[in-house]
Amino acid sequence: MTDLTSRKDAALAAIAAAPSLDALDEQRVAALGKKGWVSLELKTLGAMSADERKQAAPAIQAVRSDIAEAIDARRAVLEAAALEARLASETIDLTLPAPEKPKGSIHPVSQVMDELAEIFADLGFAVAEGPEIEDDWHNFTALNMDETHPARAMHDTFYFPEEDGAEHRMLLRTHTSPVQIRSMKKQGAPIRIIAPGRVYRSDSDATHTPMFHQVEGLVIDRDIHLGHLKWTLETFFKAFFEREDIVLRLRPSYFPFTEPSVEVDVGYSNEGDRRVVGGHGDDEGYDWMELGGSGMVNARVIEMVGLDPAEWQGFAFGLGIDRIAMLKYGMNDLRAFFDGDPRWLEHYGFSPFDQPTLSGGVGARA
Ligand code: PHE
Repeated sequence: MTDLTSRKDAALAAIAAAPSLDALDEQRVAALGKKGWVSLELKTLGAMSADERKQAAPAIQAVRSDIAEAIDARRAVLEAAALEARLASETIDLTLPAPEKPKGSIHPVSQVMDELAEIFADLGFAVAEGPEIEDDWHNFTALNMDETHPARAMHDTFYFPEEDGAEHRMLLRTHTSPVQIRSMKKQGAPIRIIAPGRVYRSDSDATHTPMFHQVEGLVIDRDIHLGHLKWTLETFFKAFFEREDIVLRLRPSYFPFTEPSVEVDVGYSNEGDRRVVGGHGDDEGYDWMELGGSGMVNARVIEMVGLDPAEWQGFAFGLGIDRIAMLKYGMNDLRAFFDGDPRWLEHYGFSPFDQPTLSGGVGARA
């Protein structure tokens, strides 16, 4: 009996002092394992008489449960300490700089859209959106192109199959101008928005892809005139190309939804196989490049959205985003924009950290 008690005390002391989970398990095996001393003591009960067993059994069983309890208690302590140690060794220092070369890059079109939004936000323009799957009322009719208007045929439109009983024919929008209509109907006047996005035309060669990007601009207010349009475009292009010597030419043109209409050209020169904006297109070594269409919003369009053209007028423009991206960043094949070749993106893409800001110079490469 004393022997049992002293062995138990020794075992409890060793368990309490076990320095690790492994050491604790050795103690468990030594006492409670198949050949452990407590198990062997329990086995001796089998050889005893019933009376003897009644005497001896409770003491041995008590030793066994005391030791098992002590092991559980010690295990809980050791496990908690192990968890603490792991947490301490696995902390992440959120103040560490990110890896120098992040995976993935921002497509130049996305980058330029961010640059546009940044520059126009500074001029008080909000960003508006509209659906790429449009109906022919928003894409054409409300823009002063009724069903028989020849301009409809010029747009090389992707139409959806005609649906019986449908009020409007659905199509892929051929320009961002339907966002003018949606914005004016939704918010009335005054209004100052840009609407960048995808547009679709059935057309494809080195400078045309069936899907491309435009940014629409729309200002509706009182006493707006062509001078505001010219100033806005000039201010935008100077900020966008980050140079002061931008010269624009507004050339008389025709769009059903603007009157008068002007096409916007910018002076440029060739440097090797790269076109560089700047300078007067009529000077020696310079030429003009078309960037988009614009004009004063046609009074009929203002009427169509339920505004009074005697009170409200304004200007609108539509620029090719891919075009101005190519000009700014020196890419010369539009088709490569949409091939999804990671090598192209690696070369022309932008770091996700390279957020365009006016203070940092929009589009500055890190
Ligand atoms: N929507 C015209 C186009 O795609 C461009 C434009 C927009 C012209 C706004 C005038 C005003 O060609």
